[in-house]
Amino acid sequence: MATEKIYLDRNENNYGPSPACFEALRNAGTPLLSTYTRVFTRGSKSVLSERLAKDFAVTEDQILIGYGAEHLLKQVIRCYLGKGERLLIPAYSWWYYKNIADEVGGLSSEYPLIEGTDGFEFNATQFLKVYQEKKPKVVFFASPNNPTGNSISLEDLKMVLPKLKDAVVVLDEAYVYYDEKKHVRDLIAIHSKLIVIRTFSKYYALAGMRIGYAVCGLEATEIVQYNNVYLGYHRVSEMVAIAALDSVDYYRGISAKMATDKKIYYDELGRLPGFTVYKSDANFILVKIPAEIKADLKKFLTDRGLIIKFMDEELLNTHLRITIGTQEQNKKLVEAIQAFMAVAEPSGRPVIGIDR
Ligand SMILES: Cc1ncc(COP(=O)(O)O)c(C=O)c1O
Repeated sequence: MATEKIYLDRNENNYGPSPACFEALRNAGTPLLSTYTRVFTRGSKSVLSERLAKDFAVTEDQILIGYGAEHLLKQVIRCYLGKGERLLIPAYSWWYYKNIADEVGGLSSEYPLIEGTDGFEFNATQFLKVYQEKKPKVVFFASPNNPTGNSISLEDLKMVLPKLKDAVVVLDEAYVYYDEKKHVRDLIAIHSKLIVIRTFSKYYALAGMRIGYAVCGLEATEIVQYNNVYLGYHRVSEMVAIAALDSVDYYRGISAKMATDKKIYYDELGRLPGFTVYKSDANFILVKIPAEIKADLKKFLTDRGLIIKFMDEELLNTHLRITIGTQEQNKKLVEAIQAFMAVAEPSGRPVIGIDR
């Protein structure tokens, strides 16, 4: 019998959405499916942007809705980055950032993230040095960052943002694993061309609904116009997203379970020879493993239906990125890695010929 696969490779939330989201889907009748929204009659863009404007205490104009955060990131690039203009991104970051700059003939440069003993860190001084040298048109911050998992502190953001007045700035908060909203308003008050991008894919377990949003500073008017649609957005996705926003306790419960499991990963994988588990604020962790076990470990886990991401990036090629799954899935993965290592030699090299 084929082993059922457990996917812990793409930072989805395997707990699934709240019961209220399913209820919203069940209630999606003909009006929602067959007609355009009529919220424009009260001067609004959409029911979701109305709701988000209220939650973030901004005007509805300052909210963008997109087909996932990826769509909004691409829109920002299409809107603000011309051919030959520069995008500044973290040294280790989601591959997509560079790709969308390439698509428009833009250039991209990287600012460093500093590797410490148990995690990566943003360094404001080093960032500003690169910023002044490269004079980018657009700057991307990611907090938490994929794949390193580190956040940028609010103090650092508040310190650097006033110095970036010549740039359009994006703060990608796709992996924010809490429901805090106040800092977003504080930050866009500091930089009026700041665009904070979030998604329902991760925390809210709605990756398949493809819905994300952004909160913009008051001078990000070009992207507001660029993002505007006339016949409305995906009405069912919007209703499900609103149901998710209302399910506060459900999602806090998941975050608490993930925090417990993250600690288990740190403790259990952290004590394996040659492994380093980096501190993460996201729903995934980055783990450095001995180079010589990479291929065998990959085969061992894949044979057991355990799918995680084996990184192949230039400076992160002996690393795993593990999505925090459900408690049962995490237990299976930790035990499988321990079983693999139990028969590996002390150097981490697996013993050839043992049937694992
Ligand atoms: C850093 C980062 N931002 C944004 C996204 C896109 O999320 P979505 O398009 O599902 O909203 C991802 C997806 O993995 C990501 O890693």
